Amino acid sequence: MDLYDAIHARHTTNGAFDSRPVSQEDKQRLLEMAARAPSHFNSQPWRFILVENAARRKQIGHIAGESMRQLIENGEFWQQYRRYFRFNQHEVDTTHDGIHFDTMPNVLKPFVKYLFTDQGNKVVNAMQVPRVLGNDARKLVESSPLLLGLALNRTEYKPDQLSSLYSVISLGAVVQTIWLSATALGMGLQFVSTPQEIPTQWARVSQLLQIPDNFELLLMLRLGYVNPDIKRPTIDWTSPQRKGIHELAFQEQWGEPLTNEHDAALQ
Ligand SMILES: Cc1cc2nc3c(=O)[nH]c(=O)nc-3n(C[C@H](O)[C@H](O)[C@H](O)COP(=O)(O)O)c2cc1C
Repeated sequence: MDLYDAIHARHTTNGAFDSRPVSQEDKQRLLEMAARAPSHFNSQPWRFILVENAARRKQIGHIAGESMRQLIENGEFWQQYRRYFRFNQHEVDTTHDGIHFDTMPNVLKPFVKYLFTDQGNKVVNAMQVPRVLGNDARKLVESSPLLLGLALNRTEYKPDQLSSLYSVISLGAVVQTIWLSATALGMGLQFVSTPQEIPTQWARVSQLLQIPDNFELLLMLRLGYVNPDIKRPTIDWTSPQRKGIHELAFQEQWGEPLTNEHDAALQ
């Protein structure tokens, strides 16, 4: 696959993957590509933990499901992240960012606009939304053929030190490399961040993976082959929209629009 095509095709896979395991060859390719990522002073501060064992995936799925249910139930999730949520095309077209909840049961739609109030949250909870989302998250994680934990070396990842920033930048390069490689291999990827939102749940995941004290688990991803026949989750979002280059980039100094030629060439 051409690099530009892979960049355009890469997207978050919210739904289930095909059940077939990731081939040895494809796993090897993903890891070899990940290891090519840049790092400060070539420190290679990241480590990868592959989880394929069904019982272990089930345990992580359970934690992910519980975390999702907890986050939605107590309403903090909606409050904390409300600025990213879009509920109609008009909002998407106005902001060109955020995530667009475009799939949900019809019965829920009239209540969405009250979601960010205490009352609205109570209604949404009464409609079993936390349970539905928790169950969906659990099933998605436990059924993913490959879970990938990414850990950073604490010698590099030290809060308040520049090497911490460098390590995170490097980890971002790793993730994008894995994601583009996965795309080229016919695979999809999704972040599993919800357990990370709850320190006790994240500690359980770290414990399960036996992360040593000198490393910190920074990310959990789920991967598998995409299957276009698999239907989308009950409540789902999409986020293909992007801001225009003219909104993101300036010429020579902050606030100066790009020259027209430049802008056109990048579009
Ligand atoms: C640090 C980080 C954390 C993320 N956490 C989640 C997550 O918990 N669940 C999820 O589905 N997507 C997660 N995403 C994916 C973003 O929502 C997604 O990349 C963005 O909406 C753009 O959509 P796209 O990946 O389809 O282009 C995360 C992305 C990043 C970079």
